Amino acid sequence: MNPAPRTLELTIDGRKTEVAEGTTLLQACQAQGIAVPTFCWAENLTPLNVCRICVVELEGARTLVPACSRKCESGMIVQTESERVQLSRKLVLELLGSSVDMSLATEFAALAEKYDAHPERFGPRSPRARPGEREAATAGHHHAGDGSHAESVAQEKKVDNDLFVRDYEKCMLCYKCVEACGIDAQNTFAIAVAGRGFDARIATELETPLPDSACVFCGNCVGVCPTGALMFKAESDLRESGQWDESRQKVSDTICPYCGVGCQLTLRVQDNKIVRVTSPADHSVTSGHLCIKGRFGWSFVEGGKK
Ligand code: SF4
Ligand code: SF4
Ligand code: FES
Repeated sequence: MNPAPRTLELTIDGRKTEVAEGTTLLQACQAQGIAVPTFCWAENLTPLNVCRICVVELEGARTLVPACSRKCESGMIVQTESERVQLSRKLVLELLGSSVDMSLATEFAALAEKYDAHPERFGPRSPRARPGEREAATAGHHHAGDGSHAESVAQEKKVDNDLFVRDYEKCMLCYKCVEACGIDAQNTFAIAVAGRGFDARIATELETPLPDSACVFCGNCVGVCPTGALMFKAESDLRESGQWDESRQKVSDTICPYCGVGCQLTLRVQDNKIVRVTSPADHSVTSGHLCIKGRFGWSFVEGGKK
């Protein structure tokens, strides 16, 4: 039998708190009701701390530390909203907002307002890259712009299948999709980060279209994407035609009918059509992840074949 974890005492925003050994600063903050913003963290994925929006100030530490992955230690004194933290978050939001379309990212607008972030101060976003241009970038040969535009990842959507689209103009490179496709859920490894620096991007092997890649269309990458860069085709089509209307949508839970595992599905329905299927990240069976049938195999509900 494993011994009970040690209890640690630390101070967060002036309040002493006790946590079990192994608790992250983010978990300790959440237990105290202290809001710490996150983009690349998710409760059903291993923290990779790449976005740095969650940084907090730790007394005695040279740099700000990512709350999502830093474990609590006895005697830590932590500030979650110090001037330094606020300035750092403001800059992260400005760099992201100037280079990536964050319009659908949860909480981005509210955070930008809270931290007085003005991405537009870097100038208008650079025009969309031509199809294949970003994929052709050579590591170490990125040329700085002339200052008239903010460098951006603007590009055309990739639509190469009927199930989901990849709109990498909205990709903040949080790595969540790579983790969900890899060891955190699907273990398929169909996608990875290719390129370096500003030219880094999510790619299939040799940039093949998804149907020709190792992808098994489980949609687990879509389920964890925080920016809408990966989106159900049904949702994307509705948004493009201006028909996406959350006031006309219903959300209901059900159990997947395909096999006996018992995966919980959360269905978002508009005008009697299922437009998005997810599963709760804290569900004991799925941990938020599904297979192709549960995620996309629902056309029979709308009169198609199972
Ligand atoms: S749909 Fe599944 S297999 Fe395909 S890229 Fe996404 S996570 Fe990987
Ligand atoms: S596609 Fe989505 S989940 Fe993947 S890295 Fe980009 S923003 Fe993150
Ligand atoms: S949420 Fe912590 S680094 Fe992204």
